[in-house]
Amino acid sequence: MFPKRYRLFFGIVKNMTEGKKRLLTGLQSSGTLHIGNYFGALKPFLSLYEQYESFLMIADYHALTSLKDPKLVRESIFNTVRDYLAVGVDPTKAVIFQQSQVQEHTELAWIFDCLVTVPFLELGHAYKDKVAKGLEANAGLFTYPMLMAADILLYDTVIVPVGEDQRQHVEYAREAAAKFNNNYGQTFIEPKELIQKEIAIVPGTDGSKMSKSRGNIIPLFGTKEDIAKAVMSIVTDSSGERPENVYAIHKLLKPEAELDALYEEKKGKYKDLKEALIEDLEAFIAPMRAKREAITDAEVIKVVEEGSDKARAIASKKMIDVRAKVGVSLK
Ligand code: ADP
Ligand code: TRP
Repeated sequence: MFPKRYRLFFGIVKNMTEGKKRLLTGLQSSGTLHIGNYFGALKPFLSLYEQYESFLMIADYHALTSLKDPKLVRESIFNTVRDYLAVGVDPTKAVIFQQSQVQEHTELAWIFDCLVTVPFLELGHAYKDKVAKGLEANAGLFTYPMLMAADILLYDTVIVPVGEDQRQHVEYAREAAAKFNNNYGQTFIEPKELIQKEIAIVPGTDGSKMSKSRGNIIPLFGTKEDIAKAVMSIVTDSSGERPENVYAIHKLLKPEAELDALYEEKKGKYKDLKEALIEDLEAFIAPMRAKREAITDAEVIKVVEEGSDKARAIASKKMIDVRAKVGVSLK
């Protein structure tokens, strides 16, 4: 047997070599989730996050760029955590934390603000779009990409799963890392975005892309009545053949071989087929709905506090190095 100090040393090496790469993503409440969000974003995420050392951050300070009602801000934090726990994210396998509770994020964002130029930030889509619409952007929206860069870079994140709309923000994080490293020496890893490309688009009740802005959704945590109402409103043609819009949603839940037999048997009987879909949707949604309803505020608070403590331990260590490198540490 090796003496204790060697065992300790081997232990550390083992941890380092077996250590998973870090993944971080920011969660912003997007209101009522629908089954398009589940199959297009949440489900792929669920199959991914355990392969990494994962950090899921509630981007509450980013939310302040648009939300001004404190009640809404608070509610959206609770809702976001509940949504993720209800779909099956395991808080013992991912660090779920709150951005505002790890002050190093805003601190590092300031340092990045001092490194990048105004014309560079003027290229940001979120800011540009607002200005193009003739709306006044707040300074927070203008520097939003540097807070997001801080979110990502503080944790030596390698991979950032996001939607296509966030691609530019991850590019900004790479630029911020490169600028800092150039000026102060190697400190930050340049992260990569992970954008799911091959995910099929889930159609809504009108046959076009399911989207909350189109009013064609099947809510992910809806009651059986909500589900039935949505399914009954699915647009069908009158050919008497297979109701394609019903089938397209149904095949997310059941193997096509099984469905083909059912749709053949019930050919032309649209009402029966819709009723079968309602039952299958209910069987799929009910456990998640029940899970979501059972999550108490106290549970959410516990998850987020424990997660924020873990995140802070990493971020504060990183900032000791950063402060020393920029020259503000006196010791
Ligand atoms: P919405 O279109 O309802 O506003 P979001 O833009 O908030 O939805 O989308 C959040 C995530 O869910 C994104 O990653 C997006 O790709 C995914 N998503 C949204 N709608 C669909 C859909 N109909 N089919 C597949 N994925 C979707
Ligand atoms: N801007 C992201 C969005 O709107 C949320 C976000 C904040 C984020 N910080 C992040 C995403 C860090 C990934 C990594 O969806």
